[in-house]
Amino acid sequence: MPEASPGIWAIWRGFRVSYVVTIDGPAGAGKSTVAKETAKRLGIKYLDTGAIYRAIALILHESEIQPIDDGIMREALAKISIELRGKAVLVNGFDVAGEIRTPEVDELSSIYSAVPSVRKALLGLQKEQEKHGSIVAEGRDVGSVVFPGAEVKFFLTASPEARAERRYKERIAKGKPADYDEILAAIIERDKNDSTRQTAPLIIPEGAIYLDTSDMTEEQAVQFITEKVKEVLSHETD
Ligand code: DC
Repeated sequence: MPEASPGIWAIWRGFRVSYVVTIDGPAGAGKSTVAKETAKRLGIKYLDTGAIYRAIALILHESEIQPIDDGIMREALAKISIELRGKAVLVNGFDVAGEIRTPEVDELSSIYSAVPSVRKALLGLQKEQEKHGSIVAEGRDVGSVVFPGAEVKFFLTASPEARAERRYKERIAKGKPADYDEILAAIIERDKNDSTRQTAPLIIPEGAIYLDTSDMTEEQAVQFITEKVKEVLSHETD
């Protein structure tokens, strides 16, 4: 018999219908690739919370709404609807998934995601995703704020140099211009923004398993996480 995914196993045992795995960590730690692949191997959904922040940052910026006045931001946010549909990120019905992975949106999302009204507006949308079944959620505060009760939590990180090298190689592989020193400086700057901001600073969530992937391949990280999830869930059902 093929090995059952933890989700199926838990249903067989009648203990758990769905579960949440969270992966938090700094920019460029490989979270997206690892979270996506982990979700695939576990046979559950992948929730990219960064994509939601990217989409909202893009739309607020394009609407010329500065991230300074919380009142104006709140008003604007009330008029924006965001929906995740597979790979599509629909903002007021338009898919912006193809426009949110640029260095400009890297920077914009880091700025807008530090605004309390933005985080508040997006919290409900993220929490809701749990209702549709088991998920691997990836972000900056998914294990601490969005899903504090998650069954298994990870904090995935790597040295700034290792992360810059990965980004550099990614860009080169895509035929895009890349400057290692510039990428490294941007990563250090974003780390500083994300961990020193007053609203939801990047922290290691309570109970999270810390994984430094500087000297690991993505495959090794995926295997480690998948095995840990199976181990934790099988202990819960013992
Ligand atoms: O993971 P990412 O690079 O796609 O995230 C884009 C930005 O959004 C990043 O600056 C951090 C922010 N973010 C956040 O504040 N909280 C999340 N749960 C996810 C992303």
